[in-house]
Amino acid sequence: MSIYGATRGTELEKLVSGAAQAEASGTMLYYALARLAREQGLGDAADAFIGIANQEAVHAGFYAVLNGQYPRDIWGLVLSMQKAEEKGGEQVLEIAAKVRALGCGEAADEIEKFAAEEKKHGVILGELLKKYTPVEQ
Ligand SMILES: [Fe+2]
Ligand SMILES: [Fe+2]
Repeated sequence: MSIYGATRGTELEKLVSGAAQAEASGTMLYYALARLAREQGLGDAADAFIGIANQEAVHAGFYAVLNGQYPRDIWGLVLSMQKAEEKGGEQVLEIAAKVRALGCGEAADEIEKFAAEEKKHGVILGELLKKYTPVEQ
């Protein structure tokens, strides 16, 4: 049985929505801790924070589904995400350029890698769309 939307429109909707947000924030927080720990040479702590962050991300997605936060028919959403990821690649390059202009070349180099990753996300989503929604493509 699907958990989809089980709490939507119930007295639990707000609670679950808050949990989803808290888990999503936790994901960001733990990845930030991992980054800082890595910079400080604490590889074991960094790995532990990443393990926690990945679980928080799973929890966030779970609560979002429990509340029916996204459409159950996923492919319309995937199509808009595919476009956003493609566009996101360009936007991230702009961020990299601005960060570079500020004098943070090392950070800018890394952000440029993120831009390539965003574009790759778009490619992956495009391939999935072709595979699972061939009629609309
Ligand atoms: Fe959690
Ligand atoms: Fe992305």
